[in-house]
Amino acid sequence: MDSVTRKKQLQRYEPPEWVDGLKIVPKYKVQLANANTPIQRWYLPGIPDGVEVYIKRDDMLGCELTGNKARKLEFLLADAIHQGCTSVITCGGMQSNHCRATALAARQLGLHPHLLLRSPPNPGTDVFCGNALLNRLIGANIYLIPPTAELVPDIIPRMKQLATRLNNKGDKAYVVPTGGSTSIGLYGYIDGYNELLTQGVDKFSDIVVTTGSGGTTAGVAIANYLTKSDIKVHGMVVSDDDQYFHDHINETLKEIGLFDRHGVKSEDIVDLIHEVGGQELVIGDGYGIATQKELEFIASVAKSTGIILDPVYTGKAALHLVKLLQRNPQRFQGKKILFIHTGGIFGLFDGGMDAVLKTSNSLHEWFHLNDEMPR
Ligand SMILES: Cc1ncc(COP(=O)(O)O)c(C=O)c1O
Repeated sequence: MDSVTRKKQLQRYEPPEWVDGLKIVPKYKVQLANANTPIQRWYLPGIPDGVEVYIKRDDMLGCELTGNKARKLEFLLADAIHQGCTSVITCGGMQSNHCRATALAARQLGLHPHLLLRSPPNPGTDVFCGNALLNRLIGANIYLIPPTAELVPDIIPRMKQLATRLNNKGDKAYVVPTGGSTSIGLYGYIDGYNELLTQGVDKFSDIVVTTGSGGTTAGVAIANYLTKSDIKVHGMVVSDDDQYFHDHINETLKEIGLFDRHGVKSEDIVDLIHEVGGQELVIGDGYGIATQKELEFIASVAKSTGIILDPVYTGKAALHLVKLLQRNPQRFQGKKILFIHTGGIFGLFDGGMDAVLKTSNSLHEWFHLNDEMPR
């Protein structure tokens, strides 16, 4: 696709008036997501009586672009196209939803995707399934990095080097940092919150969102603050810890000018939940590591409500939401809680769930023999 055709995809972004005066407001977006996702009552198993849980179906933002990344990428890739870039570089794990969504969206918009992916601990295991399979299907350029590579000393310099190499070849590169959680990507959930306003978000007492790289939580919490809402925003922390994300959100607040102008701090606008009951970590055994208990929870939610959670983000967040409510039934009595489902379904196809289903259900339970069919 040539640059003129690419630029024709840019749409003027009309920001809500409550962002007026912020230092960073994007001028353009592109259309990637199927917005206005529904909100439904969610009969999540284990919820104490007297609490209502609802689910915002951002897993329905798209098919292959399912989940929160579609909203962020509408702004990030518009910025890339506006700057005249032809390639996009980003990084993550082999089963990263963010990398898959970035690569797919880039292909749809006529940009070349380049992904720095942490190689799996057992080579060859999960490179032909889930998100990794989609990356290969669309021919993303993949660069393997060691599983132990760290972001600041290892990965960021490699992304910069790759950008320089591409630029030298006349291919202008746009680097999307981890998870797309920049002050431009933030607008994915400023826009997402604006959508919630049209859906009557003020009937909820609490919003719960999964915190992986921080951008979604930052967008929801900042929009909630700017609209002077009384809703409490909670981020379920599934990587690093709460302090890391308060620091990240505080950086964002500085960049957009809210810290200097109004002294707003992350600690005042979002409750980041790292552990429940003073002992159980939301992250479980570690970022990207799904335990048997977490996978069994995902299977039970799927069986009882038809909602498919993912093993890295939403499964851990929903499991610990249930635990939080069970430990504090008084605090949440009469509350209406909105859980934002941020997608991630392709992560379920990494093989981990197969073993759980095989042990938790006998084959006989799954497959009914012909003579057992109801007549
Ligand atoms: C399915 C899913 N949910 C939640 C998140 C967390 O969002 P954020 O990175 O904006 O914190 C991610 C991405 O990291 C994700 O892929």
